[in-house]
Amino acid sequence: MSKIVVAYWSGTGNTETMANSIAEGVKAAGKDVEVVSMDDYNASKLKECDAFALGCPAMGAEELEDTIAEPFVNEVEGFASGKKIALFGSYDWGDGEWMRIWAQRMEDAGAVIVGGEGLICNNEPDDEAIETVKS
Ligand SMILES: Cc1cc2nc3c(=O)[nH]c(=O)nc-3n(C[C@H](O)[C@H](O)[C@H](O)COP(=O)(O)O)c2cc1C
Repeated sequence: MSKIVVAYWSGTGNTETMANSIAEGVKAAGKDVEVVSMDDYNASKLKECDAFALGCPAMGAEELEDTIAEPFVNEVEGFASGKKIALFGSYDWGDGEWMRIWAQRMEDAGAVIVGGEGLICNNEPDDEAIETVKS
């Protein structure tokens, strides 16, 4: 049984909360899961995984966080073809544009986006959002 890695970047903890909820959902589905922060995880390790989840909030102007998450995702794009990838993240004032751009980008790299177009939560995920993320 291969392990599902949930790799996230989070500035104020909202995307981290989502990452932990997703991990609970994966565990409840009987799969092995590891939650890691992009700050101290080497993206190239994901090459060995068939399926994984990536999380990053909307930053900049509908962009990924640029010092850690952007280079991380850029590296993943290089080997994303054929991988099953779930995307998630928190946002505030936008309409989720960053996630649409991100999902398109991963699809263009040949990834299969699982769990819809990307799971997004407005600010801190509430109980309902957490239940949705877990499922
Ligand atoms: C520098 C900065 C840029 C942001 N840019 C956007 C944005 O373009 N669109 C948006 O909807 N929210 C934006 N936000 C809001 C964050 O996405 C939101 O606060 C989110 O909940 C942060 O998630 P985190 O707790 O995982 O860091 C921005 C926040 C910061 C600090």
